[in-house]
Amino acid sequence: WAMAAPYVAAINRLKAERGAVVLAHNYMTPDIYHGIADVVGDSLQLAIEATRVDADIIVQCGVHFMAETSKILNPAKTVLMPDMEAGCSLAESITAEGIAQMRAQYPGAPVVSYVNTTAAVKAASDICCTSSNAAQIVAAMPGDTVIMTPDKWLAQNVAKQVPQKRIVWWDGACIVHERFTPQDLRDFRDWHPGLKIIAHPECPPDVVAEADFAGSTAHIIDWVGRERPRQAMLVTECSMAANISDAHPEVEFLGPCNMCPHMKKITLEKVLWSLHSMTGQVEVDPAVAAPARRAVQRMIDLSR
Ligand code: 13P
Ligand code: SF4
Repeated sequence: WAMAAPYVAAINRLKAERGAVVLAHNYMTPDIYHGIADVVGDSLQLAIEATRVDADIIVQCGVHFMAETSKILNPAKTVLMPDMEAGCSLAESITAEGIAQMRAQYPGAPVVSYVNTTAAVKAASDICCTSSNAAQIVAAMPGDTVIMTPDKWLAQNVAKQVPQKRIVWWDGACIVHERFTPQDLRDFRDWHPGLKIIAHPECPPDVVAEADFAGSTAHIIDWVGRERPRQAMLVTECSMAANISDAHPEVEFLGPCNMCPHMKKITLEKVLWSLHSMTGQVEVDPAVAAPARRAVQRMIDLSR
């Protein structure tokens, strides 16, 4: 904190001068999460909050697809991305041509794309989803077959929750969550009887099957707050436990976690520079933004 304090003070001063708000994902490091964020949340919460921003500037502390989503939903705002290289293995796994291939393979089936996609992929999709509403969105789709892209593990987890649909998926995965194994979870449960295990649904289904609860990052936070387990293992990105541990001193967080190299590209230094120099402005071609907005807005409307 001693190292972070001057950056936090400078960023908060500059935010007030420029009229900027910081939207930060739950995977940001604690200095960003607690020090400079105006809003924190999961992907769905951040998308909804982006529509409500009144300030002129949004600083997106998260990855590139999140900044694009903010720009798509609130195009009059300047959206700053402190590091344009902060990508996502899921967003990189599919293009609009991939969506066209899936449509050709399964004619007439609606395409539900995870928000972890580029604006062009969203534009080629019928609707978006996040990990907090995927089952609800898929269940609301017409017809027997639903195409889910690009996360094969999220799709397979949703398939268990929505057995009335035949779900077909793209072969993408999150590099953070696909690395956990069921044995990791079983070992920690054996070593810590009474441990509660909470997984993100980007984990493979055999990992989710070993967990006591699976949900989006916001749902994980809610679950911990509600259940207040004595010991908890969050099978997700490392900053999650770090960010919520202060609010839950009665919970001991233990077990392995994985770092997202993309999320960890966002640092206080880069946020300060971006806000100072106004570099890293995210633009989305209006011809792509319009259909992409339709797909995201449909999701928001269905999630209410
Ligand atoms: P949520 O915060 O929506 O659960 O998503 C997790 C994630 O991996 C975002 O990149
Ligand atoms: Fe993408 Fe996974 Fe990183 Fe989220 S945690 S940004 S899904 S690579």
